[in-house]
Amino acid sequence: MPLPSHVKIVEVGPRDGLQNEAQVVPTVIKIELIERLADAGLRVVESTSFVSPKWVPQMGDNSAVLRGIKRHPATVYPVLTPNLQGFDAAIEAGATEVAIFGAASESFSRKNINCTISESLKRFEPVVSAASALEIPVRGYVSCVVGCPYEGAIDPNKAAEVAKTLFDMGCYEVSLGDTIGVGNPASVMKLIEACTRHLPIEKLAGHYHDTYGMAIANIYASLQMGMAIFDSSIAGLGGCPYAKGASGNVATEDVVYLLQGLGIETGIDLAKLADVGGWISSAINRPNGAKAGRAICSRT
Ligand code: HMG
Ligand code: MG
Repeated sequence: MPLPSHVKIVEVGPRDGLQNEAQVVPTVIKIELIERLADAGLRVVESTSFVSPKWVPQMGDNSAVLRGIKRHPATVYPVLTPNLQGFDAAIEAGATEVAIFGAASESFSRKNINCTISESLKRFEPVVSAASALEIPVRGYVSCVVGCPYEGAIDPNKAAEVAKTLFDMGCYEVSLGDTIGVGNPASVMKLIEACTRHLPIEKLAGHYHDTYGMAIANIYASLQMGMAIFDSSIAGLGGCPYAKGASGNVATEDVVYLLQGLGIETGIDLAKLADVGGWISSAINRPNGAKAGRAICSRT
């Protein structure tokens, strides 16, 4: 199969990246990060989550962040909404796109959102209905699509079943989360094979954490299967508070470097992006997790 000619990158650093930071990241820094990412050419910047501040204190300033950003006219700023309470608060703060997040592992579902997989899917239904009434697009996530920190390997058919349910419910796109970054090209290809029995590849995104350093290889394998949407995090920020030891998402700079090398269009300015990665890493006093980002920053 020829590689896609254009890839959509969903920047998740301000949410998936920062949600895991132990230190409080000031709201002004979050806002500047989101604005600079859009300025570098990112057209989807997941900005925060409307979850319980008791569960994820770092996202407690969700409304202030969403209200504070100066929006780029070509960029959308989705936010996570686990339930109707989160959805209502997100809309109140000006959200124009939301995401719901389920899991392919029962234990992870319980730890992350305090309910079973089937309870979570029931809970998402009113969110999707409310969103549809307001013409708000809803993205779906499935976590632990290859492995779970509590249950080990996950059956690709289970991940595909949850992905299909989210798609049938009305999600316009379903992102496959390798939450703990244990996937490799072989397991990721099996997963995509299972999912594409139910959903077209154009509706699937790869959300690969880089714990074992396999995320770029997984993206390349996914591209070869026709996938053209990938989630990534500036400077490789992040992890998941409910998946101990999981490292950040694949770094956006590394993904853009790969795609440019393959001649695939993204519309992103890599030099500007590397600059943003260097800036946020020092602003929150964290090593820059983007290899391409570090290399580019060290040239200038
Ligand atoms: P719960 O405790 O079962 O909720 O939490 P509840 O309905 O029983 O309510 C309990 C309290 O929470 C009440 O407050 C509610 O008002 C409040 P109290 O009366 O005790 O003062 N509450 C809320 N507050 C603010 N916003 C809300 C909300 N809902 C209830 N939306 C809940 C259930 C889902 C809320 C909780 O488990 C939660 O917030 N979990 C979030 C976990 C999370 O954010 N995880 C990280 C994101 S997922 C991820 O990173 C994976 C992903 O990147 C893909 C991948 O890598 O795989 C997407
Ligand atoms: Mg994630």
